[in-house]
Amino acid sequence: MSIQFQLEAQPFSSVSTDAIVAYVFGDKEPRLEGSVAELDRATGGKIKPLADSGELTGKFLEMIQIHYPQGLAAKKLLLVGAGKRDKFSHAELRKISGAALRYLRSRGVKSFAFLAGENERTPAAAQAIVEGFLHAEYDSDKYQTDKKPNRAIERVALIGFPADSRADIEAAIERAKIIGESEIFARDMINEPSNRLTPRMLASRAETMAKETGLELDILDEKRIAELKMGALLGVAQGSAEPPRLIVVRYRPGQKKANSPVLALVGKAVTFDTGGISIKPANNMEEMKTDMSGGATMLAVLRALARLKPSIEVMAVVPATENMPGGRAQKPGDVQIAMSGKSIEVINTDAEGRLILADAICYAKKLGATHLIDAATLTGAIVVALANVHVGAFGTPREFLDRVLESARAQGEKMWPMPIDDEYQEMIKSKIADIRNTGSGKGGGSITAAWFLKEFAEDTPWVHLDIAGTAWRDDVKPWSASGPTGIAVRTLIDFALKM
Ligand code: BES
Ligand code: ZN
Ligand code: ZN
Repeated sequence: MSIQFQLEAQPFSSVSTDAIVAYVFGDKEPRLEGSVAELDRATGGKIKPLADSGELTGKFLEMIQIHYPQGLAAKKLLLVGAGKRDKFSHAELRKISGAALRYLRSRGVKSFAFLAGENERTPAAAQAIVEGFLHAEYDSDKYQTDKKPNRAIERVALIGFPADSRADIEAAIERAKIIGESEIFARDMINEPSNRLTPRMLASRAETMAKETGLELDILDEKRIAELKMGALLGVAQGSAEPPRLIVVRYRPGQKKANSPVLALVGKAVTFDTGGISIKPANNMEEMKTDMSGGATMLAVLRALARLKPSIEVMAVVPATENMPGGRAQKPGDVQIAMSGKSIEVINTDAEGRLILADAICYAKKLGATHLIDAATLTGAIVVALANVHVGAFGTPREFLDRVLESARAQGEKMWPMPIDDEYQEMIKSKIADIRNTGSGKGGGSITAAWFLKEFAEDTPWVHLDIAGTAWRDDVKPWSASGPTGIAVRTLIDFALKM
């Protein structure tokens, strides 16, 4: 059951709902101004005493409930701390709406109304609020058979928005639903264990999605992959009983101008990464079911773009395989010839993501891509560098990378620029083949991985997002469940729409 959203024109005092949510700016002292001051007046001064006693401070995500407030038709009033006003942006707004939803849902609330502050009565703010709700609603409890008794939010009203911008706000809510549902589409796939999402099953999810949205689809099986001489992808796949797939989904705008760019979104989809013959330790290996996060992200972006209709052509190219240590598996020292013709010395079979991406990047260029963005759970080294806070963002030219980083900032998804200087290229030179799949020497593991990809992107403008630290989160946040985060989906949708 999905949440029903509605734009409510009634004054807040007469909205009959389980709860009204408002947010309060503040640092040590709350700021009882604007709609919060109005609420205080409407309730006959219920808020001021909470501020005086120090219970209400406005600290970010502080939660204060007032039950059966007089003067309001709602059963309760929830005041959410919004933190300092000068640090406030749509990123904070998304967290506030999301945290309110999870807080109220856990207390059995079925419906609530969210009162936007005076400065947030715009379409963009409405979009952020609804994105926050949809992000927060998701839980990775699909396989739990004794879920908490029907705890679900059924209806949410947005209140406070001006009547004369009704059509624009409603359009913004629709956009948010498309984006939020696409993010969930990605998170659902990332959450699936590898026995329930093999490369073939991932391809069939892409197929269903393409049929529903009217996108073009081409699924290359192992035979076509071999005909195209994708030796790097095949090298990884050969150790598994499950055959690989190369999933291509394409969006073409109604009218295409000559020489307009073609954006390819290339996503790593290793449905399980054991490491292959360079096998991983058993500890936390179950997390390697998420090694297809980049691919899920790109399919989700295409799902949204099919409905949001950017003016440029966009394709997702998703190489899907398992990385297994079977009897036919590739071994350290093996040399594979990539589709581009470059020979690769496979030093470590656990550095498989860059191998499958090499052929996918080459194929995307063959299909006419003028710009490349890849997303991949590529290296443990990015977790060392940036923990689970920032995505590591690489790319050339710098101006192209900066535009992606700008979208990330606008969407509240933290990404940090990483270096790609020529010195690092030296570290992937091989004595046996053209390049090796791991860096020689110490350190810089994420950068040498990025350089490996750049060897295949060549001069095509290219951005690489290493999401190994950020695709999955072990801890719950007030605005977000533990598990798949859906990182980069919103940024890439934003980027494609602006490009
Ligand atoms: N899928 C892993 C990277 C990863 C690590 C993803 C942690 C999510 C969380 C990748 O294929 C890998 O194993 N990389 C190796 C490369 C090394 C062998 C050069 C790594 O980072 O250890
Ligand atoms: Zn690996
Ligand atoms: Zn991997």
